[in-house]
Amino acid sequence: MVQVFRTVSGFRAACENARTAGLGFVPTMGALHDGHLALVTEARRHAPTVAASIFVNPTQFGVNEDLARYPRDLEGDLEKLQKAGADLLFAPAVEEMYPEGEQTRVSVSRVAAPLCGSFRPGHFEGVATVVTKLFAITGACTAVFGRKDYQQLAVIKRLTIDLRLPINVVGFPTVRDLDGLAKSSRNFYLSPSERAQALAIPAALAEAQDTFSNGDRDAAAIANRARKRIEALTDRIDYVEVVDADSLEPVVGNKIDHRALLAIACHVGKTRLIDNVVLGEDARVVLGEKA
Ligand code: PAF
Repeated sequence: MVQVFRTVSGFRAACENARTAGLGFVPTMGALHDGHLALVTEARRHAPTVAASIFVNPTQFGVNEDLARYPRDLEGDLEKLQKAGADLLFAPAVEEMYPEGEQTRVSVSRVAAPLCGSFRPGHFEGVATVVTKLFAITGACTAVFGRKDYQQLAVIKRLTIDLRLPINVVGFPTVRDLDGLAKSSRNFYLSPSERAQALAIPAALAEAQDTFSNGDRDAAAIANRARKRIEALTDRIDYVEVVDADSLEPVVGNKIDHRALLAIACHVGKTRLIDNVVLGEDARVVLGEKA
């Protein structure tokens, strides 16, 4: 049975007990899908006890974003965690994570600034703050995050190093549906026709992977081709960029000679979707018949 904790003190004590043998941790906002469950399995490879958290963190949503309608299904999530073999679940209320009179935020600068950082002001500050709080509660552990949220993972790695936190941060490859779309809780919002439109994203990533493996190293050309493909099918593009995969800064001189990331954020109807590949490094995106 997954043991459920609502309070910081209860969860902290359970983590403390588990730590000697080793603790794995999977922070989530719930609405769990197979991508999250793969993170639980990965955490289990690192530690005999696996804790998950479900907390829809209000500080990482902008005023016009989907905080109110973000999918919530604690009972369904608990069942999934049970099947995936998680041991502990922390599901606090907002006041437990943000106590009366709270005034503290964690802010990461350079790596949080480009890409989603410039389209979602305050987002990464909210993520960095809540993840730091969660790490302060779990203590030393191996924490596993999906690489679909590539910039989020970079921000979390940075803050863990900078704040000297005793956390081993592990990034896990993006899990995709059979049609190629990256698994995301926000896919629940898509109508069937929107979902068909969204397949332009994995198709653009796959094309970029192919041209890169055929020798193309022109960052702007790769990004432009991907943008064209996405423009034709999605409703609004936030960004389609090829950037340095470590710093997330623009590729110097436009010629890729270091790890490079193709990152995409766009809107299909009211749903904002993100996806990425590290060119030459990530497995080729497999597309279904409709893409
Ligand atoms: O990726 C998420 O689900 C969230 O951003 C996280 C890391 C749990 C912080 O709220």
